[in-house]
Amino acid sequence: MSVLVSGGAGYIGSVTAEMLLGAGRRVVVVDNLTRGHRSAVPEGAAFVEADVRDSARLEAILGEHGVECVMHFSASSLVGESMTDPGEYFGNNVVGVIRLLEAMHTQGVRDFIFSSTAATYGEPPEVPIPEDAPVRPTNPYGESKATAERILRWYETIHGFRFAALRYFNAAGASRDHGEDHDPETHLIPLALSAAAGERESLAIFGRDYPTPDGTCVRDYIHVQDLADAHILALGKLGETKENAFNLGNGEGYSVLEVLSAVERVTGKQVPAVDAPRRPGDPARLVASSARAKKILGWRPKRVTLDEIVRDAWAWKQRFPEGYGD
Ligand SMILES: NC(=O)c1ccc[n+]([C@@H]2O[C@H](COP(=O)([O-])OP(=O)(O)OC[C@H]3O[C@@H](n4cnc5c(N)ncnc54)[C@H](O)[C@@H]3O)[C@@H](O)[C@H]2O)c1
Repeated sequence: MSVLVSGGAGYIGSVTAEMLLGAGRRVVVVDNLTRGHRSAVPEGAAFVEADVRDSARLEAILGEHGVECVMHFSASSLVGESMTDPGEYFGNNVVGVIRLLEAMHTQGVRDFIFSSTAATYGEPPEVPIPEDAPVRPTNPYGESKATAERILRWYETIHGFRFAALRYFNAAGASRDHGEDHDPETHLIPLALSAAAGERESLAIFGRDYPTPDGTCVRDYIHVQDLADAHILALGKLGETKENAFNLGNGEGYSVLEVLSAVERVTGKQVPAVDAPRRPGDPARLVASSARAKKILGWRPKRVTLDEIVRDAWAWKQRFPEGYGD
């Protein structure tokens, strides 16, 4: 089976492409390289530099590579940026998904795995968050993903698409060869590792007065290879279940201070940190209930402790101190 991985030069897409190849699939990566890295595309995958909004190009790629399934990772995904440039988020994440789905429809490709997000829930009324919690995003990024999910339901009803929307919590960790190299980097673990390595002066802790045990925000960190496993399982289950949305998280929440302690334990170095005000729209706790993914997909995260996750991210950073170097 040939899988088109959009955004496969990015963080989660490159790790998933690597694991798809390991599982014996053929992979074609499509990425416009705005945020990704050519050298992140795993050896063995075909690569086409293209934008998913270019339907004609996508149609040709789907046909030429005999694609049977699309895993759609490419997106604009910075919450803060989405609050200043909503047009970019609706343009890339909503128009982009429609163009891609139309190209698939023309080519008769109907299987789709979508990178969705915990940001679709906004401020959840209950934690751990189940999939049937209200979808009430609090920023254009979350809104764009929630809209894409609704669009997908119509392609399922009208055109017979089969899809899974995987709502990731905080992706973290690395495989041996593929890790997180974002510019700008906004994620806590790579920022803390970079502070521990002395590459940045300090790390900002945004708020210490949340209603959590130590006052800092609590998030659910999930190893990127466990996310990749879930994609492969979801692909195998398409069409077997009426459920389309699956949370992917550890079910364990860790506070900012707990993450910093883990980084200090793993690296043996101090993380210089400074206090900063709360960021608007940051919920106190975001933790997934992944019961549905476990029950229906048979998913079992394998790298669950914070120390394991941080250790893999640190190992990758030590192997690639300049990241992908481009
Ligand atoms: N990283 C997380 O913790 C997290 C959490 C929840 C959801 N997600 C979602 O998972 C997906 C992957 O996240 P990531 O952290 O790997 O992001 P990333 O930025 O590392 O990768 C995205 C890739 O998509 C490419 N891209 C963007 N727009 C494109 C377009 N129009 N055409 C072609 N390529 C395009 C970029 O160049 C980049 O290589 C995103 O959809 C993101 O919203 C990520």
